[in-house]
Amino acid sequence: METIKADGYNAKFATATYALAAAGALFLGAKAFTFIKMLLELYVFSGIPLKKFGAGSGAWAVITGASDGIGKEFADQLAKKKFNVLLVSRTASKLDVIAEELSQQYGVETKTFAMDFTKGDANDFAKLGEVISGLRVGVLVNNVGTNHDIPTPFAEEDDKVIQDIVEVNIKGAMRMTKLVLPQMRKDRSGLILNLGSFSGLVATPYLSVYSAGKAFLCTWSQALGAELASEGIVVENINTYFVVSAMSKIRKPTFLIPLPKPYVASVLSKIGLACGAGTPYTSAPYPGHGIVNWLIDNVFNITFWVNHNDTIQKDIRKRALRKREREAAARKSS
Ligand SMILES: NC(=O)c1ccc[n+]([C@@H]2O[C@H](COP(=O)([O-])OP(=O)(O)OC[C@H]3O[C@@H](n4cnc5c(N)ncnc54)[C@H](OP(=O)(O)O)[C@@H]3O)[C@@H](O)[C@H]2O)c1
Repeated sequence: METIKADGYNAKFATATYALAAAGALFLGAKAFTFIKMLLELYVFSGIPLKKFGAGSGAWAVITGASDGIGKEFADQLAKKKFNVLLVSRTASKLDVIAEELSQQYGVETKTFAMDFTKGDANDFAKLGEVISGLRVGVLVNNVGTNHDIPTPFAEEDDKVIQDIVEVNIKGAMRMTKLVLPQMRKDRSGLILNLGSFSGLVATPYLSVYSAGKAFLCTWSQALGAELASEGIVVENINTYFVVSAMSKIRKPTFLIPLPKPYVASVLSKIGLACGAGTPYTSAPYPGHGIVNWLIDNVFNITFWVNHNDTIQKDIRKRALRKREREAAARKSS
């Protein structure tokens, strides 16, 4: 009786071990599959060609925040691909210079429209809508964005900063999209790129409103992408880690922090590919960013990454406050 019991126990133990080993192999196999898929999408596969959205056939690309940083680079590369470009930002003089350069260099038509998104002025959007209604828009890049000046606890953040982030990063993107959608739906073709951020993937303490705004863009892009997929319109949230720019205050590129040029080239060559992003209708097309996105989704849990962000932002805040103190002291003594 004793021996039979022991054999039964051993058989059950062996079955449980095999089941656990099979589950482990399946789990690791699935992870390995997503990792290899990410590498292939980042380094081998090409995305949907821009011709599908009207490149070279008279279609327009509308780019917000087009006078500097990432937006300016989108304007340049889309004009190079033979889209006519409508450039939008606050500073008319900067936009006009860029528009002139692009039309000279690439022989495309250009238009500019100066407006301040923080105002959320319905008249501005109505006037811009009139300009857009006369164009065949193939691409909208919802790029304009604003951020907290320095990492700041929400309770101490200026109400104007909070309002500006909501107005520009959230409402601005929705209003711009409403302006182009009627015609894109009629044409059954279009590309809408929303400039997202890793702070929308992992909550970023001390940049709480910016972070939540980018999370909004991520969720909204998924819903919009699903609604519009059957109408020939591609919507993509672009998960962005750091890029050298005035907003990031980073000047030196590294493997993880590209200049706008290679970053935008990655975005435009990988349309429709996730490239390391684990969320639908989202892409992390720059190689360094795609790999970090995969690691965030697949290694440790999200609490680990939120705590990691908390530590980083506290440190940045300390340094930013010290810099402010130094600048204030220098002003006093001069
Ligand atoms: N750089 C990064 O590391 C990074 C990381 C993740 C996500 N992103 C996202 O990428 C996008 C572009 O960022 P960036 O780094 O290229 O920024 P940037 O270099 O600061 O450029 C911002 C652009 O937006 C315009 N702009 C700013 N405020 C505006 C307003 N109130 N109304 C109209 N136009 C305005 C600016 O021109 P004017 O001053 O002439 O108006 C400029 O053309 C943003 O959505 C940002 O959140 C950037």
